[in-house]
Amino acid sequence: MSITTTGPATSQYSFDNAAREGDEQLRLLAGILDEHSTGVLARTGVTAGWRCLDIGPGAGTVTHWLAGRVGPGGHVTSLDLDPQHIPAAGNVTVQQGDVRTTELPADHFDLIHARLLLLHLTDRDEVIRRLVATLKPGGLLVTSDWDTTRHDVLLHAPNEAATAAFGVFQEALLGILESNGADLGWAHRAPLSLRAAGLVDIETEVHNRLWPGGTAANLLHVSNSYQLRDALVARGVTPEQLDLVRAAMLDPETMVYCYLTYTSIGRRPSR
Ligand SMILES: C[S@@+](CC[C@H](N)C(=O)[O-])C[C@H]1O[C@@H](n2cnc3c(N)ncnc32)[C@H](O)[C@@H]1O
Repeated sequence: MSITTTGPATSQYSFDNAAREGDEQLRLLAGILDEHSTGVLARTGVTAGWRCLDIGPGAGTVTHWLAGRVGPGGHVTSLDLDPQHIPAAGNVTVQQGDVRTTELPADHFDLIHARLLLLHLTDRDEVIRRLVATLKPGGLLVTSDWDTTRHDVLLHAPNEAATAAFGVFQEALLGILESNGADLGWAHRAPLSLRAAGLVDIETEVHNRLWPGGTAANLLHVSNSYQLRDALVARGVTPEQLDLVRAAMLDPETMVYCYLTYTSIGRRPSR
């Protein structure tokens, strides 16, 4: 199977896998979410011989988990704007490309996985329709996205100055994402998009957990504070506030919820 890239599209994606913090950011996302994602994917019954497509796989950890499940008789295509962090494997094709413009074969995949991708894309409903068309009849689309509209993710910080700084930091961070086309509340409505694209048997699971300071969800805030530093400062976050946020995220007394993760599964109707 080969998929071809028809041409570049302007990315709306707010982060950069090639940034100094890119590798760490993607590993932290995997640390936060892989246990949840692989649990849901295992329940889909993905097994030997399946053909899978992992879109926007970042560090590629889910790609490799899928590759283990489908075995040498199956195959995983791992498609990312910047796939530099995805390791190679015998039954994995790592493909550079934009999901909005990459030609995808019709009726081909048993399962497609997209995590923390669709919320970023303004034209996500069109992308979902393209994904449905590349599924085999009976194939499954699994999407996971964060709903970041709930702003009280910081449950406890070491001091009030840190709590206030975190609020300013979050507002600016989410503002950057939104200005680049992200829909911060789309995850909650994802089942409607899947249904509108013709998928059936839609199920959605909502996942969250609390993370103590110094663990993955906290470290992600630290990583993002460096990767998006200039854009955050341009939005009015002071360097002192960024320092307060970083120190708080490393303090073991701090308690931070992740954003709510909505994982939705839909099936393309069988013919
Ligand atoms: C937030 S990261 C999520 C990575 C991984 N799915 C995870 O959850 O750990 C988003 C990933 O999607 C990729 N991406 C963003 N826009 C894309 C597009 N239009 N087509 C393909 N990949 C895209 C980025 O390069 C990045 O690797």
